[in-house]
Amino acid sequence: WASASAGVLALVFSLTGCSGGQQSTLDAVGPGARRTEGLWWLFFGISMGIFVEVMALLGWALWRRRRSRVRIKDGDAVGFISALGVVVPLLILILVYGVGLRDLNALAAPDDEPTVNVDVVGHRWWWEIHYPDRPQAVTANEIHIPVGESVRIRLTTADVQHSFWVPQLMPKTDLIAGKVNSTWLRADRPGRYRGQCAEYCGQQHAFMALLVIAESRPQFDSWLAGLVPPTDEPLTDAEQRGRAVFARSACATCHTVRGTSATATVGPDLTNVGGRWSLGAGAAPNDPGHLGGWIVNSQTIKPGNAMPPQPVAPGDLPDLIAYLRSLG
Ligand code: CUA
Repeated sequence: WASASAGVLALVFSLTGCSGGQQSTLDAVGPGARRTEGLWWLFFGISMGIFVEVMALLGWALWRRRRSRVRIKDGDAVGFISALGVVVPLLILILVYGVGLRDLNALAAPDDEPTVNVDVVGHRWWWEIHYPDRPQAVTANEIHIPVGESVRIRLTTADVQHSFWVPQLMPKTDLIAGKVNSTWLRADRPGRYRGQCAEYCGQQHAFMALLVIAESRPQFDSWLAGLVPPTDEPLTDAEQRGRAVFARSACATCHTVRGTSATATVGPDLTNVGGRWSLGAGAAPNDPGHLGGWIVNSQTIKPGNAMPPQPVAPGDLPDLIAYLRSLG
């Protein structure tokens, strides 16, 4: 029945838009998610076995009743019900419980010592990311990790409860106010793994996505090094004008760009905003057009987010976009 059930699954996935590949527990890329995937297939196999058995018994009962016209007397069914209705389910539940406990225990910590620490703070609706071993290494909505190494993640929230979930790497861990929870990640192969807040946290819960980027050790080190120092690369004239617009507008009252006078922490740190995968935690692609739209009125892209519309003069907007694109 394995091939038949795979066919049913393919049909279900095609109907629900769940394609496998991106953001799927059934495409595990690390030891954490592989545990969940194994459990999923175990539960699925047991459920399919029970379904087939119940349907077979139902068919048999209908067929027999028609043929024999014998009425079942009270007491006849006691042994049958005791075996299939009590003993077998109990054995299955004990098995599933045991396997669940084994996996829960295995997920508590990686079997090697983590080489990287990441602190994550949940906000409505974005992720603040710190690398505590490197002071000032701050970004938002994306976590770079070295491939094949375990990474310790510490989680807390600045407002309501959220849940950190990167299905291809690890099951969910909640972010609870006043508490620091921890989990870990390890990716066995390089790639970009989408994650998602998995605890309803308000209007834009769906656009509280993040990206985990697993890359080689040298790539990771150079990305991390690039987070810290202010870029000394010379700015073009437009970028310089944009920097001045940024400094005198409301931008700098909420955001930080390290190496400049903007040091506010209300919104995401923008020091490497030009290199990030998205705007608004997955709400829009990070390209010049969407960036302009986001600055002028992000409420049209992600209604309810904390950033009010910005009255930037139309003549200043291209310079401001050029400056922000130059960061990172
Ligand atoms: Cu944060 Cu849902």
